[in-house]
Amino acid sequence: MAACFSVCRAYVRGADRLLRLCPRCELQAQTGLSRLHRTGFATAAQAVSNTEQTAVSDAKESFSLIQEKRHDQAERSVLINCPPNTNKKKFLAYISKHGDIRNHFFYETYGIYAVVEFSSRDSISSLKENCTIPSLQHEASVPFKSRLLTLSSTATGKKQTGPNAIKCHNLTPPSFDKLINQLSKQETVDQQMQCLTEACQLTEENISLRFLVCSLLRDIAAAYFPDCIIRPFGSTVNSFGKLGCDLDMFLDLDAVSGHDQSKGSGLSLEYQVKRGASERNVTQSILSVIGECVDVFSPGCVGVQKILNARCPLVRFSHQPSSFRCDLTANNRVAMKSSEMLFIYGSLDERLRFLVFTIRYWARAHGITNSFPGAWITNFSLTMLVVFFLQQRTPALLPTLNQLRDLAGPSDKCVIEGNDCTMVTDLSKITLQQNTDTLEKLLQEFFEFYGSFDFGKSSINIRKGREQNKPETSAMHIQNPFETDLNVSRNVNSSQLQRFVTLCKESAWIFQSGDMLKRRSASSSNKIPQWGVAALLMPSVTKSVEAREKRNRRKNERTAERIMSVLQSLKSPAEAGEA
Ligand code: GTP
Ligand code: MG
Repeated sequence: MAACFSVCRAYVRGADRLLRLCPRCELQAQTGLSRLHRTGFATAAQAVSNTEQTAVSDAKESFSLIQEKRHDQAERSVLINCPPNTNKKKFLAYISKHGDIRNHFFYETYGIYAVVEFSSRDSISSLKENCTIPSLQHEASVPFKSRLLTLSSTATGKKQTGPNAIKCHNLTPPSFDKLINQLSKQETVDQQMQCLTEACQLTEENISLRFLVCSLLRDIAAAYFPDCIIRPFGSTVNSFGKLGCDLDMFLDLDAVSGHDQSKGSGLSLEYQVKRGASERNVTQSILSVIGECVDVFSPGCVGVQKILNARCPLVRFSHQPSSFRCDLTANNRVAMKSSEMLFIYGSLDERLRFLVFTIRYWARAHGITNSFPGAWITNFSLTMLVVFFLQQRTPALLPTLNQLRDLAGPSDKCVIEGNDCTMVTDLSKITLQQNTDTLEKLLQEFFEFYGSFDFGKSSINIRKGREQNKPETSAMHIQNPFETDLNVSRNVNSSQLQRFVTLCKESAWIFQSGDMLKRRSASSSNKIPQWGVAALLMPSVTKSVEAREKRNRRKNERTAERIMSVLQSLKSPAEAGEA
């Protein structure tokens, strides 16, 4: 079936892939990418060049290759807290005594920090040999030698200025007002959606820092499980991460299991191990111990909470030097597969990412989603809704998950806990249908689609790419793509669903009325009025729609009352009395 998808838009896919695979060509690729985005989707398909073929085949091992590369970078990196008056040149010269520095950047959270990536891991050993454990005056220190360091300087003086001053990379998204202003300056709704994505998406540096935090935690877990890896999943790696999103991690013990080595001799050795009543029990015990170690040993990790009785047991904490909210789980390979699936969809057509970023921001701005757990729709569910919507287009803009499974090769086969998680990893095998819908059209029709979707009867199924009868009574049913008996949106209650549907209707109405979507020129005060996506994000817009609807309802009621009284007055006095 997937063979019916014919080539389209690999130009975006290729440029984006290059950008991710080769951070060093980021600037160059970014320029090219922005240019391509601005060409518009309907016409850009004609601009496909020969180079796209290369880019598509580069994407073959993309997800695992990118994860491995970032993991390796993180293992060669250190995080250093620097005084504000640090001279960048002197600092880099001092650190590079331990080896060649391949990459570095600075950022500011609770102080200024430098992420320094060496070319070789040996440099880290050399650097650590030169570090001392601080002697504290009124407290005692836990002598755990992590890769989170503090630079002390005897130099006094103010913040550096000029070429040796530290320039800090921004880890946070633009403020709401700043973003609205930026959006209002764009020329089209399509450009607004691209601008919003570019302003909010995770940067290369932010992702590197996330992998470094995982790697720092691994140093602790490795005391018990030397071969373990702590892997980020969710929005850090699925290409839908927004600046400020949480850091989801899981402790991967697969490499710890070892291999069968009974070749020839007929003899083999195995480890004696403790046994637990169930997989879940073992996971809880391991997380409990690792959580304790993170709390006691890991500098910068604060507010450690062990939430071991959750469906998916986890340890939650804040990593202060990065300001990341962290969730550490174990044995969560299915969630990693969901992340890979979203990454693949995001790589197939860049419009998915633009839509998802815009809709996630819209939902957050109107309180449809929330960073606290509860009956709200989650970002993951929203993303699934967008994927499903794009599978429904004519021609379909995205393939179904079953189509991705059918294209898989033997090495793609993957079964986790009895669930078939097989998907094609060689993206060049996927061909897409030629759909030239603009982002504006897609956004409008997304709102219309879900404003009238029959959530009462139907379930969203991205595996088959069609709606199905709801198997259970939850308000909203989105079938989990890999654990197909589960509902991704089971937490959503009917009032939250109703709020989502109403907001979709209101936003569709704004599109239909057309007024808000016209770019307006600056007023005499030089302030550009909010229009398009900027207007959709404003709470006042939906409030004014609500108010208008209320006014209309009241007007209709008054008209009905007037008609009733006229009819009443036409009746004979006897009839009126009976009534
Ligand atoms: P943010 O809100 O930006 O953090 O998005 P996120 O995609 O990281 O979502 P979240 O932190 O809530 O969850 C992390 C990952 O866990 C998701 O990307 C999914 O892969 C997975 N996940 C979340 N919720 C569910 C669920 O209900 N079912 C399943 N199977 N996986 C889930
Ligand atoms: Mg997350």
